[in-house]
Amino acid sequence: MHRATEAPATGFIGVEPFVNGMAKMMTALGKRPLANLRVYDDDATRLLDWLPPASLDGIDLLYPDPWPKKKHWKRRFVSRANLDRFARVLKAGGRFRFASDIDSYVNWTLLACRDHGAFAWQASEAADWHKPYEGWPGTRYEAKAIREGRRPAYLTFTRK
Ligand SMILES: C[S@@+](CC[C@H](N)C(=O)[O-])C[C@H]1O[C@@H](n2cnc3c(N)ncnc32)[C@H](O)[C@@H]1O
Repeated sequence: MHRATEAPATGFIGVEPFVNGMAKMMTALGKRPLANLRVYDDDATRLLDWLPPASLDGIDLLYPDPWPKKKHWKRRFVSRANLDRFARVLKAGGRFRFASDIDSYVNWTLLACRDHGAFAWQASEAADWHKPYEGWPGTRYEAKAIREGRRPAYLTFTRK
């Protein structure tokens, strides 16, 4: 909602299958409708597979479920298959942003994007990955992570 309000000429699709999260969004949209925002309350992979190739300027993956235990890492949303999905639907030069408070997931994503080959990490200096995105409003999950003493990382890649 924040991004769609800021950029009324850009179309956004908000994806979240968690019923309570989507219900909050619908309540807020009921009070303040946004013509440039659509929502999808199911698995993001279904939406990604439905979208035409090179149809998106950007994808934001904000605090995906962390699966911190090593034996669960394979459940993480960032995977070869999902990076293939992102690579298919992003336009050349399109942006993939990934925020997480879990160090092992940040490393995981950096390595997965490097190995995948279609994404270039955009950090230009060491401090970059701890710098929130411009105009970043934060998320509910992020606020809790910070309260609990974890430090978020904000990665940006471009589709080659
Ligand atoms: C840790 S929460 C973060 C929620 C929110 N982005 C935030 O930062 O406050 C991760 C969210 O990812 C959603 N999620 C998990 N798998 C998903 C999938 N395959 N497609 C879309 N959303 C998914 C979950 O429903 C959950 O609400």
